[in-house]
Amino acid sequence: MPPPPLLQATGLTKRFGGQTLFEGLDLRLQPGELLALLGESGSGKSTLLNGLAALEPLDEGQVLLDGQDILRLDEAGQALLRRERLGFVFQAFHVLPHLTVRDNIGLPLLLQGRPDTTRVDHMLGAVGLAAHANHLPRQLSGGQLQRVAIARALVHRPALVLADEPTGNLDPRHADQMMQLLRQQLQEQGAACLLVTHSAHAAALADRRLRLDGGQLVDA
Ligand SMILES: Nc1ncnc2c1ncn2[C@@H]1O[C@H](COP(=O)(O)OP(=O)(O)OP(=O)(O)O)[C@@H](O)[C@H]1O
Ligand SMILES: [Mg+2]
Repeated sequence: MPPPPLLQATGLTKRFGGQTLFEGLDLRLQPGELLALLGESGSGKSTLLNGLAALEPLDEGQVLLDGQDILRLDEAGQALLRRERLGFVFQAFHVLPHLTVRDNIGLPLLLQGRPDTTRVDHMLGAVGLAAHANHLPRQLSGGQLQRVAIARALVHRPALVLADEPTGNLDPRHADQMMQLLRQQLQEQGAACLLVTHSAHAAALADRRLRLDGGQLVDA
């Protein structure tokens, strides 16, 4: 028998004004699985990712993470669950401008009350930013900022990684490195990842590919 799904989302629907962006989407992720989500710009990928993390309200649907219904928790419960179980790589990075690279990466551990310098040093090395540990975000390039965002999403060993175009600003060598890092984290922790990408190369490295097209998810 396959293990129970880590993430089971059903009937996800999002409307803006009178328009339906997507409707009745079902999504399931097994532990260890890397699922690529493709789709044209504006098809709703970021909205779906944000909806899964309850960062943006959905109109209908249920999101079970390890059997727990995220969308039915109160705000404090959702924040706690995100902090402990989710790693999010935002399309626009959302690094904190007044914190150094080291402190940005260590923030998820600090927020959980378990700071861990060794783990932060490991992540700094893993994303190739050891030499930039004490720099501020404004002193980094776009690709370096993206790697800070990836390290921060993985540092606390989340059960589910939601990554919105995490290699969109990277050259092929760094993009490959980040995909390897992601895969290694999934293997080591039995975590799962939903990876939004426009890169055919990144999508080819996933276990499964779906495309958001006309408000529906189809095999890609
Ligand atoms: N708060 C909002 N109000 C109205 N429309 C919105 C809102 N947020 C997003 N949209 C619309 O929903 C659509 C999907 O946006 P979304 O950011 O999810 O697309 P995407 O697939 O991530 O695109 P990209 O590949 O460019 O990142 C867009 O047409 C966008 O304008
Ligand atoms: Mg997007």
